[in-house]
Amino acid sequence: MAYRVSSFSQYEQDYQFSVENPEAFWEDIASNYSWIRKWDKTLEWNFDEPKVEWFKGAKLNITENCIDRHLASKANQTAILWEPNDPKERFKKITYQDLHQQVCRFANVLKRNGVGKGDRVCLYMPMIPELAIAVLATARIGAIHSVVFAGFSAQSLADRINDATCKMVITADGLYRGAKEIPLKNIVDEAVEDCECVERVLVIERTAWNTEMQAGRDVWYHDEVQHVGDECPAEPMDAEDPLFILYTSGSTGKPKGVVHTCGGYMVYAGYSFQNVFQYDPGDTYWCTADIGWITGHTYIVYGPLLNGATTLMFEGVPTYPDAGRFWQVCDKHHVNQFYTAPTAIRALMACGDEHVLPYSLNSLRVIGTVGEPINEEAWNWYNVHIGKEKCPIVDTWWQTETGGIMISSLGEYGPQKAAHAGFPLPGIQPVLLDEKGNEIQENEKEGYLAVKFPWPSMIRTTWGDHERCKKVYFSHYNGYYFTGDGAKRDAKGLYRIIGRVDDVINVSGHRFGTAEIENAINQNIHVAESAVVGYPHDIKGQGIYAYVILRKPVDDTDFISAEIIETVKEEIGAIAKPDKIQIVSGLPKTRSGKIMRRILRKVAEGEPDKLGDISTLLDPNVVAEIVKGAQ
Ligand code: WT7
Repeated sequence: MAYRVSSFSQYEQDYQFSVENPEAFWEDIASNYSWIRKWDKTLEWNFDEPKVEWFKGAKLNITENCIDRHLASKANQTAILWEPNDPKERFKKITYQDLHQQVCRFANVLKRNGVGKGDRVCLYMPMIPELAIAVLATARIGAIHSVVFAGFSAQSLADRINDATCKMVITADGLYRGAKEIPLKNIVDEAVEDCECVERVLVIERTAWNTEMQAGRDVWYHDEVQHVGDECPAEPMDAEDPLFILYTSGSTGKPKGVVHTCGGYMVYAGYSFQNVFQYDPGDTYWCTADIGWITGHTYIVYGPLLNGATTLMFEGVPTYPDAGRFWQVCDKHHVNQFYTAPTAIRALMACGDEHVLPYSLNSLRVIGTVGEPINEEAWNWYNVHIGKEKCPIVDTWWQTETGGIMISSLGEYGPQKAAHAGFPLPGIQPVLLDEKGNEIQENEKEGYLAVKFPWPSMIRTTWGDHERCKKVYFSHYNGYYFTGDGAKRDAKGLYRIIGRVDDVINVSGHRFGTAEIENAINQNIHVAESAVVGYPHDIKGQGIYAYVILRKPVDDTDFISAEIIETVKEEIGAIAKPDKIQIVSGLPKTRSGKIMRRILRKVAEGEPDKLGDISTLLDPNVVAEIVKGAQ
């Protein structure tokens, strides 16, 4: 089995082999990594408990695979190329040799501060090299990282820290993101007030702002690192030991901690990176995500480093200082593979082609998208203006829970069809299910997207609550991993992802549960009840539409709406703030008290003439009021 697929017919052969002999297939791929001890059993599984164990009995450390094993041949090659928020600030190149030293030192600082194998460490950081280094340092000593995107509020951060009972929080004094400056440490201070589990806050200096340090709890990284050495042996980990927890939203109120393990995640992160991006030695690869999301974990840090690649890490945003920044950085660093989100593509498309024209973009070879369905218009613009019709577009479908890319072309090997992710990667067995859970065999059909056989980087559990993992992913359809997405297969069998079929809204490629946002809105003292739905949004893919019942009627609804937005920012973060708020006096409910979201969705989508049957409502009159109010 080739580690790197290099023709479409080879893909077809490998795919077939992987379905017929999954264990042999993955053993073969796994043999490309360095293991401290080989596994006794390749796979043990059942989707009922669920229990999935890959490479059982094996020992490894993922950082040895990401760093140490490249030192013999690539010590002086750039591992991480860091581009700051401000284009006038100097970029940084961290070679594999440097990375080894910095990760070891950081790991020693962790140990010195009481962190050991199995302990949970929360990372709430800017997109600076120290974030990637901290991730790797945690993994090096066998601690479990839980990275929380630095756009989440103190409340969300506290919830995540407590859920995983993190011993340490790693943060920075402040963060630059576009024109914004955010005092991260202050947010951590506020969060940690409610977190008894936190013993240490380790602070990196980024902005050199005046920062209060709590004696006995807070330490500066630059002080701590003075006391440690350059060597730190990698902790031998069981293949099934947890590597990290990453929180993601679902259809219930509370985000859940998706758990990934060391061995399987490593094998799939490395394999999928190599194949989807067709990375060649010497290339510069750039994924624009934040490490706070799974995309950043797998395709900024682990996947590229496992392959000895040069991975570009960007601190800023696409529109700062202007809407040409992505393209300027591509030219500046001769980027060969570029991976971003449809929302960024649409936003930049809307800014006008004049921001692209000054740049040649001629280093690009493969361009990719992830996070949400890409509409044809955005796909075409990306293809023509960025890929210059010579770069294959990899439309990569996957999820936090899948750990790595599941459906995508492998660079140029695979179909190029707008809005279609295409075929599954070798080793991945997706199916479409009908309402009853029967597999749909024919093409040109639509159904629920599920996966019928385990793959190495799949979710193992939800932290602290295995039942929840079972209920959310393995109970809708017995014997399948259920994705929560709807999909179609075209005449040739290419998958097209339609979107979520559950109460999850995908805003700019980020997931929020409707219940989660409703809970936040309901924290506002003026609010009696609320219902949230998604609606099509030109840039974000989906926007958030909130219907709110107030405790007392007010005259100034603009003021109340602004207050509600503030509450959501405090409870979750600015990324979850509603785009539209409609004050209503009632919600469409069935006699059993269930909100009929279908109706609210239709109104939000601007199709009040397509409400369907509303006769089962407790009070059909509220619908007329809502429709009127929406206009
Ligand atoms: C959900 C997962 C996985 C990285 C980023 C998001 C949607 C993801 C695509 C795509 C259509 C996509 C799905 C999925 N999604 N990629 N290429 N085409 N939809 O991770 O937050 O775990 O969200 O994002 O709805 O279920 P996530």
